[in-house]
Amino acid sequence: MSNKMWGGRFSERPDEIMEEINVSIDVDRHLFAQDIAASKAHAAMLAAQGIITASDAKNIGKGLDTILSEIGKGGFEFKRALEDIHMNVESRLSELIGPAAGRLHTARSRNDQVATDFRLYVRDVLDETDAALAAFQHALVQRALEHAATVMPGFTHLQTAQPVTFGHHLLAYVEMAARDRGRFQDARKRLNESPLGAAALAGTSFPIDRHATAKALGFDRPMANSLDAVSDRDFVLETLSGAAICAVHMSRFAEEIVIWTSPLVGMIRLSDKFTTGSSIMPQKRNPDAAELVRAKTGRVIGALNGLLIVMKGLPLAYQKDMQEDKQGAMEGFAALSLAIRAMTGMVRDLVPDEAKMKLAAGEGYATATDLADWLVRTLKMPFREAHHVTGRIVAKAAEGGVALHDLPLEQMQAIEPDITKDVLGVLSVESSVKSRTSFGGTAPKNVAAQAKAWLRRLEKERKLG
Ligand code: ARG
Repeated sequence: MSNKMWGGRFSERPDEIMEEINVSIDVDRHLFAQDIAASKAHAAMLAAQGIITASDAKNIGKGLDTILSEIGKGGFEFKRALEDIHMNVESRLSELIGPAAGRLHTARSRNDQVATDFRLYVRDVLDETDAALAAFQHALVQRALEHAATVMPGFTHLQTAQPVTFGHHLLAYVEMAARDRGRFQDARKRLNESPLGAAALAGTSFPIDRHATAKALGFDRPMANSLDAVSDRDFVLETLSGAAICAVHMSRFAEEIVIWTSPLVGMIRLSDKFTTGSSIMPQKRNPDAAELVRAKTGRVIGALNGLLIVMKGLPLAYQKDMQEDKQGAMEGFAALSLAIRAMTGMVRDLVPDEAKMKLAAGEGYATATDLADWLVRTLKMPFREAHHVTGRIVAKAAEGGVALHDLPLEQMQAIEPDITKDVLGVLSVESSVKSRTSFGGTAPKNVAAQAKAWLRRLEKERKLG
């Protein structure tokens, strides 16, 4: 038997391989709720416009509700022979309500249907990701407040550079997450137009009301060009681009957790909740969650690349290639969601070893810049000269194997006679961070103020949301 949805001009069944390559129900079944919502909006509009009768629309609506609850309860049989979610729903509808089901597909096509369903799905993903990132920020801000004055080494080139505070470091990720959220919010604005009613590609001769269906589905307006409406997948690409950047942020933090928990560094400890053991080495506590966040980033970037390649060079309008837009994207979104939630858990869980951090912050002559700045400020030395003098003092300390603040004053004076004992006041790691009060700097009072401001912002947003 040929396909009962489109088989009018066919006399033979499709080949098994044709079915195998064509079927999309294993993936697009995840769009069932969106598909049913869009069909309900479409049926109600058709009745309001006098295109179908009110009684047919009522039966269609009731039948669709029944299908929604059947799927929700796990009692719906998805049939591969029916290809995709649209035809699975419509076929069940005709079992439930008879011939009136056949009127639902008036003035629409699977092309505008799938574009509508996937927009609604990605819109939900955007909203969920925004909420997950807000929770991530909240966790970071709370820990930052707690550690506004906890000194740790700041690195450039992964070499000890200058002391910073742990709270400052955590707040850097709050800023990144804020930009990520901004990208997702922008994408949502552009996404929020309805393709429904574009039909196959050219629009329809029926007097439909696209504004009404757009409104019913929470879209801001209908898309203005029917060819564009069925061809556009920018909304997925944009969301995946934002997701890829966000995942990269997560991976950088994850990598830091891997480094910091290594016994070689030992700056933080994760509890048993976020570590795993080794089957052979009983002493091991591995930061698997952080490593997997690092790796999942590859999946998200892969999903973006995959879809860019699917879309590249596709002529207008709908092409079947576009059916391949969903699987990778859905997997990429799921990977990002897990990564954000795992990072949030680790932020709440981690315990810094404050003594070790402080010790490490002072290693590698991390306050050398403070000494140079003191020479500039107090002795009015040009910075370049101060840099040179400090370099010679650091070399002296290194020769004696002592830290800068343990180098006898006379030895400093042998290099620069005008140095006084006041210099000792700027050589500790605490005084170093305390002095960095420039806007955006690491001084504990800056960090505490920033963390409090973020907390207020996030709490206000939570109340509004
Ligand atoms: N399963 C299809 C997809 O995901 C739905 C649209 C099919 N359209 C068509 N003309 N065959 O893209």
